[in-house]
Amino acid sequence: MKKLMNLIAGEVSKAFADAGYDASYGKVTVSNRPDLCEYQCNGAMAGAKAYHKAPIMIANDVVAKLQENDMFEEISAVKPGFINIKLSGNFVTNYLTAMQQSEKFGLDEPEQKETIIIDYGGPNVAKPLHVGHLRSAIIGESIKRINRYQGHNVIGDVHLGDWGLQMGLIIEELKDRKPELCYFEESYTGEYPSEAPFTISELEEIYPCASAKSKVDEAFKERAHEATFQLQKGVRGYKALWNHIMNVSVTDLKKNYSNLNVEFDLWKKESDAQPYIPDMIEMMKEKNLAYMSDGALVVDVKEENDTKEVPPCILIKSDGATLYSTTDLATIVERMKLFQPTEIIYVVDKRQEMHFTQVFRCSRKAGTVKEDTKLKFLGFGTMNGKDGKPFKTRDGGVMRLETLIAEINQAVYEKIMENRTVSEEEARNTAKIIGLSAIKYGDLSNQASKDYVFDVERFTSFEGNTGPYILYTIVRIKSIIKKYKEINDAAKAFTLLPPVSASEKALMLELTKFNEVIEQSAAELAPHKICAYIYELANKFNSFYHETKILSEEDKEKQAGYIALISLTQQILETCIDLLGFEAPERM
Ligand code: ARG
Repeated sequence: MKKLMNLIAGEVSKAFADAGYDASYGKVTVSNRPDLCEYQCNGAMAGAKAYHKAPIMIANDVVAKLQENDMFEEISAVKPGFINIKLSGNFVTNYLTAMQQSEKFGLDEPEQKETIIIDYGGPNVAKPLHVGHLRSAIIGESIKRINRYQGHNVIGDVHLGDWGLQMGLIIEELKDRKPELCYFEESYTGEYPSEAPFTISELEEIYPCASAKSKVDEAFKERAHEATFQLQKGVRGYKALWNHIMNVSVTDLKKNYSNLNVEFDLWKKESDAQPYIPDMIEMMKEKNLAYMSDGALVVDVKEENDTKEVPPCILIKSDGATLYSTTDLATIVERMKLFQPTEIIYVVDKRQEMHFTQVFRCSRKAGTVKEDTKLKFLGFGTMNGKDGKPFKTRDGGVMRLETLIAEINQAVYEKIMENRTVSEEEARNTAKIIGLSAIKYGDLSNQASKDYVFDVERFTSFEGNTGPYILYTIVRIKSIIKKYKEINDAAKAFTLLPPVSASEKALMLELTKFNEVIEQSAAELAPHKICAYIYELANKFNSFYHETKILSEEDKEKQAGYIALISLTQQILETCIDLLGFEAPERM
């Protein structure tokens, strides 16, 4: 379906042409004076110079051509040369009716269907999930859903960090604690036990302990590096331990992500890219891109117009080890081979921007992606506490994701129990659903690249620009519709009627913007635009609701029209929150 704004601009442009002006002046925007009109065109002002005419004269000419047009209830030229537009109720109603009948509420399939890999989540195996990983999961999941809804072929990949020093640290720590384990016995040739020699809670305790030790004990750190190297070389016992670490960790990660309503299509990991490294490096040498510098193998990636220094991309360090960049380069090779993506989007902390600049440039230079493969980096800012510093626990430690979620849920639960008399169990379940909306909306309503303050109190408020407020609005609509259906024929077809009040029309106009908002937020990787939209939509609905007697309306046809309108509002709101990655409860 054409966007409403374009339909209006089409008519206005035609009027410019009919009046003897260039049609390109017919651009239309949403009015910045909603008290005066709904849309406006400033083209007459822009054209004044070209035509050596007062803008108001041009505006008058154009407006004269549109007086009979039934798209408009009112179209007028006002000094110094604005064209103010009010749409006719019939036109808006017809547009909404078409939306209602269209599969995605008037959102068109994309002109070009992309295959998009979204690299998000990015947890490091064996380290507990902490809030730092929260943003990637929340933003990435939403970007995935938005693009998929739009009609692209989207693959979400968690890209586990499973190949770094943390593995060597755990292996060495375990060796110190349980040297008798067969994994450490060099001459061992038998099968390794299928049961892991640790539980998830032990594993989570082992890593921080080993990490702390490596900071004070040089020899231990050396051993951990060596163990990592041995593991990467494929030493049997270490490989078997690694398998255990992976299994135990991944089970726990899946549980955590599922609590967040985050779902990956692929559970690939850094180590999966390792087999692609040797050939890739060979190729980069053959193309004369890779050369030795201070004992390391590097590729130059700086460009003429760089405003800051972009250091060479290191493929192999002087000690022979490969790095994060080598893995990411090889992962691109792997992805191109297995999935032929037309686009790869990385949702990662913005502090890694330089790393991705280097990796993207190196891939392009080496030709491991096609010329038109898009590589995008969506860098997000830091989640801060109320003190403006990176979010921590009360005693200054790293906040675990589970703890954070539990805190939010408790806050919401207390709110529900304050003024409701629902059962304990229902309150707990509802608190979970609302809590998730508080966390996700609190994050997504900010532009991703900005830092933001995680404020439990504000995020869980049922009023204002919050997730719970949106849910509250949806629940309100559900309850009206439910009551309506208890006394009326539920199977009836509901026909939208032209608006009778200003608040009803405002709600209708807001609904028409759906396709435009979704397209924009997909193109700009900007879930915050959906948040801003549904906040506006919820506000418009609530004004309408406060001014309108819906359930006590005696004119049955009119009442059915209201029901059609609010049920479309509900569907749009629910579609939007699904794109943000949360859902609404039945009541709250
Ligand atoms: N594991 C990394 C980290 O915790 C994030 C991975 C992001 N994805 C990537 N392809 N590098 O920093």
